Amino acid sequence: MRFDTDTQVKKVTLSGTGTPSRNAALGLLLLAMVGTAAADRGAADRIMLPEPRHRSHVSVEEALRDRRSVRNYSSDSLTLADIAQLLWSAQGVSDARGRRTAPSAGALYPLELYLVAGNVEALPAGVYQYRPAQHALSRVAAGDKRDGLAKAALRQTSVRDAPAVIVITAVYERTTRKYGDRGQRYVHMEAGHAAQNIYLQTVPLGLGTVTVGAFSDRKVKQILDLPEDEEPLYLMPVGKPR
Ligand SMILES: Cc1cc2nc3c(=O)[nH]c(=O)nc-3n(C[C@H](O)[C@H](O)[C@H](O)COP(=O)(O)O)c2cc1C
Repeated sequence: MRFDTDTQVKKVTLSGTGTPSRNAALGLLLLAMVGTAAADRGAADRIMLPEPRHRSHVSVEEALRDRRSVRNYSSDSLTLADIAQLLWSAQGVSDARGRRTAPSAGALYPLELYLVAGNVEALPAGVYQYRPAQHALSRVAAGDKRDGLAKAALRQTSVRDAPAVIVITAVYERTTRKYGDRGQRYVHMEAGHAAQNIYLQTVPLGLGTVTVGAFSDRKVKQILDLPEDEEPLYLMPVGKPR
């Protein structure tokens, strides 16, 4: 059984780009949905994300040139379409066989992505896990966890002030089971691929991000309620550059 195709999906697609009253209604709908979600990851109701776009006005070369680490963000919210695009860029399924946007040793996919949402249109503040196979989110925890996450990251203001933070974690065993100790380096390489994809994707979206590696593993694990065998590798705050 594949770890990311184990449960049923409740299909709710949101564009995140409606009027304020429509967004409020969508938010309430979502709140009602996730309110019924089980606390355990995987078995919960799913929040379907808008389909990713495959075209933009920015070339790969321009994105490579213009990518920079951005640590200061405006107070603007992110849309669910932004979130969908960023998560897809890092670990989205991109072919019929289930292969993803970032390469993976043995196609074993040891990485997991979480969204620590604080100011995202039509998405209540909380921690969500990305489900690549369904291009969906499932809620892990409710409430705004950004401040706690920033404290866990040596009080870095980028983490505190961003409307949302993407966290890249890894279950090493998925890769070391096949490749032994060498699998550990493969997992770290893969986190780099995924993070660079997010960096590049922010450019056409007019957003900015930074890879944050300085944090307490223990505290981040606690905030995300990670299983014992899953380790955080990168925090990536995302927002509109200020
Ligand atoms: C492994 C790694 C860890 C990093 N950790 C942090 C961090 O904790 N906080 C931060 O603000 N930037 C962090 N950075 C971002 C670097 O400071 C940044 O990439 C570097 O200054 C070069 O700037 P550029 O990304 O704009 O080209 C990290 C980068 C890498 C590759």
